[in-house]
Amino acid sequence: MVEVFAVASGKGGTGKTTSTLALGMALAEDYDVTVVDADTGMANLLFHTGLADVDVTLHDLLIEKSDVGLEEAIYDKFGMHVLPCGTNLDGFKEANPELLQSVIVELSEQTDVILLDAPATLGSKSAVLPIVLADRTITVLQPTVPSLSDGLKVQEYASAYGTGNAGVLFNRVTDQESVTEIQEQTERYFDGPILGMIPESETIAAAREAGKPLLAYAPDAPVSNQYRKAAEKIEIQDREAAAVADRFRSAVIPEPP
Ligand SMILES: Nc1ncnc2c1ncn2[C@@H]1O[C@H](COP(=O)(O)OP(=O)(O)OP(=O)(O)O)[C@@H](O)[C@H]1O
Ligand SMILES: [Mg+2]
Repeated sequence: MVEVFAVASGKGGTGKTTSTLALGMALAEDYDVTVVDADTGMANLLFHTGLADVDVTLHDLLIEKSDVGLEEAIYDKFGMHVLPCGTNLDGFKEANPELLQSVIVELSEQTDVILLDAPATLGSKSAVLPIVLADRTITVLQPTVPSLSDGLKVQEYASAYGTGNAGVLFNRVTDQESVTEIQEQTERYFDGPILGMIPESETIAAAREAGKPLLAYAPDAPVSNQYRKAAEKIEIQDREAAAVADRFRSAVIPEPP
């Protein structure tokens, strides 16, 4: 079985990478999980996972006729398989982001849950690709009206490509009362559930400083439990790897709507 999620936001800095890793570690308590830095232009998942010095990354897999094997770019850390992306500009220039499709096909045959840490913006074909390739999106938003409208853009892209909505995760919540209105609007306009409300947290900032995912840095912190509860709300669907692979192989990657 395998299900592919794109962790998206439509905007930078909302907490996609933090949330990809926290949800990934929470889901890894029950599933075989692979997290992928699908932000091939502005990669940073490697800094959150202590992998800043690795030589082989997703960039090497995205080179035409690359002789680097998938397993060489995957690092087993924090109970997950981590496929980081390099930050080198030359690596980005040489990479063909559309090859991400074949990487995910190969991955889907060997893991249960794939989380794609998606680029912040939806401005190019390659930036939209993780949403196109995913079964469902997880949208990480700050509880503000502008952030919500960015999230609706993600939903619009997702539905244009037949990608479902696993839910919205609010992050950096400072004032519970002020989110009530946003919550109502979210329930009205989004197809999926609200997965959780993650507070602005010094523990999250400290985990980032330490170069560790939150659930590795502070497994017993209340905010880590909030991520576990959010992960519990995502019911992983039992898709056959072969069927997913077939769908990807035949997927035509369209231009953004
Ligand atoms: N709930 C939170 N409380 C405090 N700091 C947070 C919280 N969530 C994220 N941060 C911090 O905000 C910064 C951005 O988070 P993160 O890198 O996860 O966002 P992102 O959406 O992946 O950003 P980008 O769009 O640049 O990829 C990081 O320094 C992170 O530690
Ligand atoms: Mg990020």
